[in-house]
Amino acid sequence: ISLTSFNTFGLQATAKEFTTIQSIEDAQALLTSDIFKNQPVLILGGGSNILLTKNFDGLVVKVEIKGKEVIHNDDENVLLKVGAGENWHELVMYCVDKNLGGIENLSLIPGTMGAAPMQNIGAYGVEIKDVVESVEAIEISTGKVKTFSNADCNFGYRESIFKQEAKNKFFISSVTLRLSKKNHRFNCSYGAVNETMTTLGYDTPSVRAISEAVIHIRRSKLPDPSVIGNAGSFFKNPTIDADAYALLKKTYPDIPGYIAGNAMFKVPAAWLIEKCGWKGKRFDNIGVHQHQALVLVNYGGGDGKKIWQLAMDIQASVKEKFNITLHPEVNVIE
Ligand code: EPU
Repeated sequence: ISLTSFNTFGLQATAKEFTTIQSIEDAQALLTSDIFKNQPVLILGGGSNILLTKNFDGLVVKVEIKGKEVIHNDDENVLLKVGAGENWHELVMYCVDKNLGGIENLSLIPGTMGAAPMQNIGAYGVEIKDVVESVEAIEISTGKVKTFSNADCNFGYRESIFKQEAKNKFFISSVTLRLSKKNHRFNCSYGAVNETMTTLGYDTPSVRAISEAVIHIRRSKLPDPSVIGNAGSFFKNPTIDADAYALLKKTYPDIPGYIAGNAMFKVPAAWLIEKCGWKGKRFDNIGVHQHQALVLVNYGGGDGKKIWQLAMDIQASVKEKFNITLHPEVNVIE
């Protein structure tokens, strides 16, 4: 089966076998089946954070567990339990319509609910960890349903237990989000969000105003995967120590950096990549996006191996020029 429509890079790769699961019971039944036990397995949500460099010689499982259920409701908050297979942006729009606060800054991020806590999706000052109450997952070895509290998830910048100790050991089946009904705690720390809200005619922040501003900014900078294949930021923004940052600042006075605690600085990978001359570069049908140097793109018919080679070339040139190692943010299937 072709995986082209199941990865936002739009890469042409196939899976030997493919199945979908619609419920926890489906997942549990699958876990005990021979097709699951006897070959490598790749669990897929929206396919928006994956680079397929070859055909997958195993079973691809697409999680399609749906559902949105309010499991707690008080004056201030609701707890909304969301199936792993729900589309993330549709969920954000649902919350905006109901004036539920907490995820408006995460508008227009491609992918599904279940994939969101894996890499702790984040944008414009908010990360999903800020609203995750708990994550429900099925243990692959036993079929048991386990609940991870927010603390259990070990969230970090684009990190969680599901990329570490729990990797390949659990299926995420649902996520419970804590959303505000009033006294919303808006995050307008990104200057561009404030400016765009004003441009769009909003005087004060609201769930809807922030969502619309974020959508506006993302549309202007990031390629729409349904038009140009991509998986968002290809690398994480690196963190370097204060001494290394001070040294770089001498040579490159305009290098941006954000305090990241423990005398560390986070430097935008996009800036490093742009300074190495990659921004907007095109190599046949793949390249580096013209408006965001952190995004690698497939213009159509591109080869995953070539994208991975391009990523490694970028990594090597950033290492040579700045002595900083970039780490991929996307899941590379080699
Ligand atoms: N910059 C450049 N060249 C560029 C783009 C950006 O030099 O081509 C510099 C500028 O100095 C800019 C800074 O990088 O001020 C930051 O750029 P931007 O605000 O676009 O954010 P980012 O750090 O590149 C991160 C996330 C994005 C998220 C944005 C907004 C990571 C790996 N990426 O990108 O997340 O949307 O912030 O909050 O942390 C994703 O993970 O897929 C993703 C798109």
